[in-house]
Amino acid sequence: MNKIPVITIDGPTASGKGTVASRVAQSLGFHYLDSGALYRLTAYKALKNHLDLADEPSVARLAAALKPIFKEGKIILDGENVTDKIRAEAVGIAASKVAALGAVREALLEVQKGARSEPGLVADGRDMGSVIFPDATLKVFLTASAEARAQRRFNQLKEKGIIANIDTLAQDLRERDRRDMQRALSPLAPAPDAKILDSSSLTIDQTVNQVLAWYKTVNR
Ligand code: C5P
Repeated sequence: MNKIPVITIDGPTASGKGTVASRVAQSLGFHYLDSGALYRLTAYKALKNHLDLADEPSVARLAAALKPIFKEGKIILDGENVTDKIRAEAVGIAASKVAALGAVREALLEVQKGARSEPGLVADGRDMGSVIFPDATLKVFLTASAEARAQRRFNQLKEKGIIANIDTLAQDLRERDRRDMQRALSPLAPAPDAKILDSSSLTIDQTVNQVLAWYKTVNR
């Protein structure tokens, strides 16, 4: 049995998982795994190489050979700083397409499991608690209404100087949720033993504090 503690934070797109997970990791001095970034990097490179996103063996080969460098909040792929580029909506949508391919999920398995190291790990994604770390110390499923998530995404983009249409954003979110929930492999769903946290009307601090409070109770 692996004794290294893991907190999994799964949930739909724009639920705030990434921000919450990295803050929880920081507060506990744990490592942080952004599993969505691995699917985004795969999609980004597949698009760049003009691969057919449905060509499972080729996309999986590309995923298995990815050598991203995560350093000081930046993500470098093949010498290119892709930190912001992989956050583009088009890359997110492509990521959810390649994430439906079994061979791609398989290719990314080891690198995810390998992120579990002392003194502990906070992992965010869709299947962290259900598939990758079924024995996690604490499993959280973070949700928020589609409206609240669209608003957050809108604000994030605005901060970057990008003005988006909130209705289009909400529509994209729903489309991505549907694809993530309906796929046959590792569909987006809370693990049976996950704690559900609806952050629609919570601030980031309140959400982080709730996760830390839960962790305290299970880590006694
Ligand atoms: O979390 P993020 O929006 O960065 O993830 C991008 C896409 O990668 C998701 O829409 C989902 O399809 C996929 N993903 C996944 N399993 C994970 C993390 C992300 O299928 N653990």
